[in-house]
This record gives sequence, C-alpha cells and structure tokens, in this order.
Amino acid sequence: MTVSVAPLSSRQGLVNWYRRNRQRSRALFDLIDPDVYFTRPIALRNPIVFYEGHLPAFSVISFLKRGLGRAGVDERLETLFARGIDPDSEQEAVPRSGAGTRWPSRAAILEFARAADDEIVAAMERAEFDLAGREHAAMADGEAIFTALEHEAMHQETLLYMWRRLPYAHKRKPHDLSYELGAAPPANQRIDIAAGRATLGARRPSARADRAALGAVVPFGWDNEFDALAVDVPRFDIDAHSVTNAEFLEFIAERGYQRRELWDDASWEWREAEQVSHPAFWLPASGSGADAWAWRGMFEEVPLPLAWPCYVSQAEASAFARWKGRRLPSEAEYHRAAYGSPDGEEREFPWGAAPPQPAHGNFDFQSWEPVPAGARPAGASAWGVHDLAGNGWEWTASEFAPFPGFTAMASYPEYSAEFFDGRHVVLKGASPATAKELIRRSFRNWFRTNYPYVYAKFRTVSS
Ligand SMILES: [Fe+2]
Repeated sequence: MTVSVAPLSSRQGLVNWYRRNRQRSRALFDLIDPDVYFTRPIALRNPIVFYEGHLPAFSVISFLKRGLGRAGVDERLETLFARGIDPDSEQEAVPRSGAGTRWPSRAAILEFARAADDEIVAAMERAEFDLAGREHAAMADGEAIFTALEHEAMHQETLLYMWRRLPYAHKRKPHDLSYELGAAPPANQRIDIAAGRATLGARRPSARADRAALGAVVPFGWDNEFDALAVDVPRFDIDAHSVTNAEFLEFIAERGYQRRELWDDASWEWREAEQVSHPAFWLPASGSGADAWAWRGMFEEVPLPLAWPCYVSQAEASAFARWKGRRLPSEAEYHRAAYGSPDGEEREFPWGAAPPQPAHGNFDFQSWEPVPAGARPAGASAWGVHDLAGNGWEWTASEFAPFPGFTAMASYPEYSAEFFDGRHVVLKGASPATAKELIRRSFRNWFRTNYPYVYAKFRTVSS
C-alpha cells in the first residue's frame, strides 16, 4: 500500500523523521550526568527520568494504540509515562507529580524505548493505514503519526530549557561551543502596520477540496490551529526588533520590578511570592551596570550579551511594555506584522514562501543560545520586522482559546482543551530549540503568564 501523507511522499520519510527525532532526544539525555537523572531541574515539572520514558510511551499511545488500534509494548510503563504536569506553583506540583513514584532504572527505560522504537518503525514501514479515518478516527490524514513526531520535537525544546537549570558541573560542554555576540544592540525603530486582515489558524487537511474556504491547508496541525479565522486588525505600530537585554537593563535601573503600577494583580502577587527581581536567564554578577549581570548560558555563564533578546515571562514583558507606555501585541497583531504585507497578500512565512533555512532565523537547534536581535535580516517580514519566527518565541497578550470550529483531536484529545482555562497565553514564532518542522503560520504555543523558563522574547506595540 502506498502512503501519501503530504509533505512526506513515502513511508521512508516518516521513518527518517522518527529516527532523526530519536537520535536527537538520545543525544540530549546523554548530555547530562547520570547523577541528576532522577532530579527535577524545574520544580514545576517532572524529574528528568520521566521524559526519557514519556517520549516513546507517548508515541506508542498516540500512534500504535489510538491510531492503529493495537496493543502497546508495556502497559505498566505506558501508564507511568503517559502525562506531563503544568501546576501553577511548587506547592501544587508535589501531590500531582507523585513525589513517591518509584521510577525504573535508565537501563530499563532504554530497553522499553528500543522495543517501542522497533514496533513504531515497523508500523510506519508496513502497517495498513486507513487515511480516511474510517477505522480509527485518530488516523485520518495520518494525524496520529504527526502527533507522535511533532510531540517528540516539541519536548526536545522542553528538555533544553530544563537542562539550562541544571548546575554546569552536571552537563557535558561541547568542544566547539561558540557564541554570536554582535556589536552594539540594534537601534530599535517602530514600524507602522496598516490596517488589514490577518488569517489565524488553518484549514483542515480534509478541507482540501473546499476551495472557497479560508486559509492555507496544512498537512497536519494540532487541534488548536483549526479552523481558520479571519480578523480585521486596525492600524498599529510595532518594534522592528525584539526587546534586547540592553533595553531591559534600563527597566531594571528604573526600578521596574519595584513599581506596583506596572504590574497587574496576579503578576505582582507572583513577583512578590517568588521575589522575582530579574529575568530567570540572568544571574547576578559582581560588577555594576551591565556587569552586574551574567547570562545563564547552557554550559557556562556569559557576560550579559547586550544585543541578545531578553528572555522573560509574559508578566515581566507586560510590565516592561507598560513602563514604555505601550503593550504586548495580540495574536492577530503578531500575524499581521509577521505574515501580512503592504499589498494585502498573506505569506506563508515572514520571509515569504521558501521553507525555513538557517539564514531566515535562529531555530532548528542551530545554536544553544540566542543571536543578536536583527542578525538574520533575510528572515524579516514584508514590513521589515525582524526575528518574528526564530531567536525566541514571541509572547502575545492573547489568552489561549479555541478558534470557532475547534474539536479535540482523536490522537491526543487532552492536548489543548485542558489549557483553555484563562490562565495561559499564546506565543508565536520559534526559538533556537524549535525544530524546523514546527515552524508554520498556524502553530500556536502557550504558557502561563508567570512561566519564566521558556525561550521567549517579546516586543511592544501601540495603537
Ligand atoms: Fe508530552
């Protein structure tokens, strides 16, 4: 049976992607010291051991079980490794994540992973798929395969921002480590974006024949990407560059963290409770001014790179924007700045229609760290706005909510629905640790507004 699941024209394409994913995941786990394997680098997340079991377990559950209706590989481990956690606070994290869980040894997990990989690859190579989804709804248009593949790629980003929290002594530093520091930060200009239409979301693969329907057809999208939604966006202006560490230093120098009026109630409560006084990616150093801070690099401290984007929580980004007399963009404004154009056309990527290449942005694991704002001019949008897809996710002010026509996906029904709770906001774009396969216009990321660990930058707008 021939399988045609665009953009992969063959079963071999699926297998190659799966193997590429697995190799990268293995390399990430091999970066860290066995001593910290059972620790929890971020108190709000599971211990490291969970993730190495979770990746194959999830692929078994979504593809083999839900997609093909088959038995799993190891029922006990698939149950243990089924779900991650996202509590609001550390107090909440302990009971939910099972502090008393007895985790298997790494050897046992790797053995389970090998067995799961064998079954999954064999199924990708030989299983009969009903791409119409008549037999198993989760297999319609190959959904369950992509669910497994994209889930693993997304977790690689989770792993990397988690590893960043580990002490340097517990990570193996690569021999060829280097940084792109740039000279001075770019002068930030504001760019006018004319009023116009933004198309959020996408058309379902099954809508391929419906030519009148709105938006691009994507071969796969997560449930929160459907259906397409047209939004008329009034004129606004936006920063050409994401806010840099240099700009954020000024906010700190002007006591932005101490000024109650810059923070909404929930953010202030978090700031007070956690005693937040600087970005989680910064470390106090011994000097003054810029020298008072260092960058918390993946493998070592780096003198604060002034031209790099400032990675912060949405709460901190919002306080900065308010301090400037501005605000964060809505999801629709992000779309307009990234994919809109003065001639009214909407692009597939900020730079046009070409598939993502390294020149377009800092993504797809090109670098362990950010690069200076504006360092990938070939990736600028039609309006000249830089780094909208790459070098760090972009926080928006928009609550993570379903588009009209949302239905939970059969291969992973709990993916989005549990997070439509008014406590998460949308992020768009990509970070250095985002796989190129995940870069598409309709892709939506989301986090709590007070989550400070994700590789997320921001810029400000004004109406
Ligand atoms: Fe997961």
